Amino acid sequence: MTQSLPPPIPSLIPETAPFSEEQRVWLNGFFAGLVSLDRFGVTPLSGEQAAALLSGGTSGKDADEDDGGAPWHDQTLPLAERMNLANGKPLRWRMMAAMAQQDCGQCGYDCKNYSGAIHSGKEERLNLCVPGGKETTRTLKALFEEFKTAPVKPPAAVTEPVSAATAMAGCSRDNPAEALFVSRTRLNKPGSAKETWHLEFDLSACGLDYAVGDAFGLFPANDPALVEAVIKALDAPPDFPIGGRTLREVLTDGVSLSPAPDMLFQLFSYITGGDRRKKARALSTGEDPDGDAAVLDVLAAIEKFPSIRPDPEAFIEALDPLQPRLYSISSSPKANPGRIALTVDAVRYDIGNRKRLGVASTYLAEHLRPGSALKVYVQKAHAFGLPADPSVPIIMIGPGTGVAPFRAFLQERRATGAKGRNWLFFGHQHSDFDFFYGDEFREMKTSGLLTRLSLAWSRDGSEKIYVQDRMREVGRDLWSWLADGAHIYVCGDAKRMAKDVEIALVDIVAQYGVRSPEEATAFVSDLKKKNRYQQDVY
Ligand SMILES: Cc1cc2nc3c(=O)[nH]c(=O)nc-3n(C[C@H](O)[C@H](O)[C@H](O)COP(=O)(O)OP(=O)(O)OC[C@H]3O[C@@H](n4cnc5c(N)ncnc54)[C@H](O)[C@@H]3O)c2cc1C
Ligand SMILES: NC(=O)c1ccc[n+]([C@@H]2O[C@H](COP(=O)([O-])OP(=O)(O)OC[C@H]3O[C@@H](n4cnc5c(N)ncnc54)[C@H](OP(=O)(O)O)[C@@H]3O)[C@@H](O)[C@H]2O)c1
Repeated sequence: MTQSLPPPIPSLIPETAPFSEEQRVWLNGFFAGLVSLDRFGVTPLSGEQAAALLSGGTSGKDADEDDGGAPWHDQTLPLAERMNLANGKPLRWRMMAAMAQQDCGQCGYDCKNYSGAIHSGKEERLNLCVPGGKETTRTLKALFEEFKTAPVKPPAAVTEPVSAATAMAGCSRDNPAEALFVSRTRLNKPGSAKETWHLEFDLSACGLDYAVGDAFGLFPANDPALVEAVIKALDAPPDFPIGGRTLREVLTDGVSLSPAPDMLFQLFSYITGGDRRKKARALSTGEDPDGDAAVLDVLAAIEKFPSIRPDPEAFIEALDPLQPRLYSISSSPKANPGRIALTVDAVRYDIGNRKRLGVASTYLAEHLRPGSALKVYVQKAHAFGLPADPSVPIIMIGPGTGVAPFRAFLQERRATGAKGRNWLFFGHQHSDFDFFYGDEFREMKTSGLLTRLSLAWSRDGSEKIYVQDRMREVGRDLWSWLADGAHIYVCGDAKRMAKDVEIALVDIVAQYGVRSPEEATAFVSDLKKKNRYQQDVY
C-alpha cells in the first residue's frame, strides 16, 4: 500500500507564479535541493559537513560526555524548560532535550538514541518525534544548523552493521511486513461517549513474532473524503502524475495531511505576494500572525490562502511523509498463536465547523476492511515487560486504552502457568459502558488469575474517581505488595495520568513505608532504576 515517494522533481515553481524566468530558474534550483531533503526535515550539507557527520560529529567526545542524569528527560516539562536544563551541555544532549521525552519508540528509537543517531549522522530525518510535533522539529533544525556551522574534523569511514533483527521484514518501521486484518469489535456499550475498538490481525502468512509489552506499528491511509477535499481545494486533476503514481494515490498514503508543515507555508510564500506572502512566511517560521497556527492542517492551510494554486508536485514535496502509528499489543502470542490484538481509541474532534479525524485510529475504526492487508512491524518494548521470574507479583495500572498490554500480560501469565500474584487497576468514564474486556477480567478474577481488580469510574458519580484514588484507598496493601518485591506497571496517558499515578505512589511509599517525601521519591526512582517500575505512556 504505502509506496516510496517520487524523486525530486525538476519544476517546483508553477508557470503562473509571479516570478521572472530568471527568478523561477533560481527558485526551482534552490527549492528542488531544499525540499528533497527538507521533506525529511534536513537542509543540504556541504560534502565536508556530511563527512563530519558520518565521522560522528564535530567532536567525537561530545557524544561520550556525561548527561548529568538528563534532568530534561521528563515528559511533563515544556520544551523551553527542557532546553533550559540542557543549556550549556554538548549538542548531543541539547538534541535529546528537544525530544518529547516519552521514549515512546514512534521514531524507531528512544529519545536518547534518536538524538544520538542524529548526532552521529546515522539518522538524517529530523521530523520523526511525533509527540514533540513541529516544536521539536524546529528546535532540532536550529541545533542541526549549529552543527553545520561548527568546525569540522577530518572524516573517518563508518560502516553500519545491519543487524539480523532489523533486516527481517516486520522488525522495524523501515522494513515492514504484511498482516491481514481480521476483525474489529466495539468495546464500549451504547451510551458511551468513547469509541474504542478491539482489532485482530492474522500474522500467520508473514510469520511475524512478538512478545507481550511490545507495540505494533502500522501504516495507515488518509481519510478518502479529506483527500478529495484537498484535491478540490488545490483545483488539481486527481490523476495528475507524480513519480509513477497519481496525485490522489500519493495524498492517500504517501503524505501527512495534518498538521501543515513549515515547508508548505514556505512554498506558499514563494507563490503569493504582498500581505499574503508576509503571512505565509511568518507561519513558515513558527510565528502565529492570526492565532490559528495550531489548528491549521493541510486543508485548512490551503483554505487560508484561497485561490493559491501550487504546482501539485511542488505541493506534495512540501508535505511531510505519512508516519506509521504505534499501538500497545493487547494479546499474548502464547494464548493466540499467529494472531495479534490491539485496543484503539478512535480520535475525532471538531475545529470550527470541520470534523477532524485521527488518521490511523479512524482508518482502523472504519476504513480498513476485513481480509485486507496492511503494512506493519513490531516495535520491541523499551524496558516494558513481565518479570523474568514468574513468581514475582505484578501491579498493573492502565486506565482507558492503557489496559491493552495488561490484557496481554494476564493472558501470558495464564498460558505459562506463572504463579505470581496479579493486581489490575482499570478506570474509565462509566462502569456500564466503558469496562473494556469486562467479562474476561471478571472471569480471571473468579478463576484466581487476577488476585485483585480495582476499578475507578470517573463519570459514574458526582465526583471523579481515578485509578490513583483507588491506589490511595488501598495504599497499605499496595505497599505490602511492593515490600514483597512486586513490579509495578503504568500504561496510557503520558500527559497527566502517568505523573498523577507516580505522585500517588510516592505518597503511598511515604505513608505506609514510613519515609520522608524525599526518601519516598528516592525509593520510587530506585524502583525505576531496577526496572521494577515500568511505564508505556503516550
Ligand atoms: C508506544 C505507544 C503505544 C500506544 N498505544 C495505543 C493504544 O494501545 N491505543 C490507542 O488508542 N492509542 C495508542 N497509542 C497512540 C497512537 O499511536 C496514536 O497516537 C493515536 O491512535 C492517534 O493517532 P491517529 O493517527 O488516529 O491521530 P493523529 O492523526 O495522529 O491525530 C492525533 C492528534 O490530533 C490532535 N488531537 C487529538 N484530539 C484532539 C482534540 N480533542 N482537540 C484538538 N486536537 C486533538 C492532537 O494533536 C493529536 O496528537 C500509542 C502510542 C504509542 C507511542
Ligand atoms: N495521540 C493521540 O491523539 C491519542 C490517541 C488516543 C489516546 N490518546 C491519549 O491516550 C490516553 C488514553 O486514552 P483513552 O481514550 O484510552 O482514555 P483516557 O482519555 O485516558 O481516559 C481513561 C480514564 O482516565 C481518566 N483520567 C483522566 N485524567 C486522568 C488523570 N489525570 N489521572 C488518571 N485518570 C485520568 C478519564 O477520566 P475523564 O475522561 O472523566 O477525565 C477516564 O476515566 C488519553 O490521554 C488520550 O488523550 C492520545
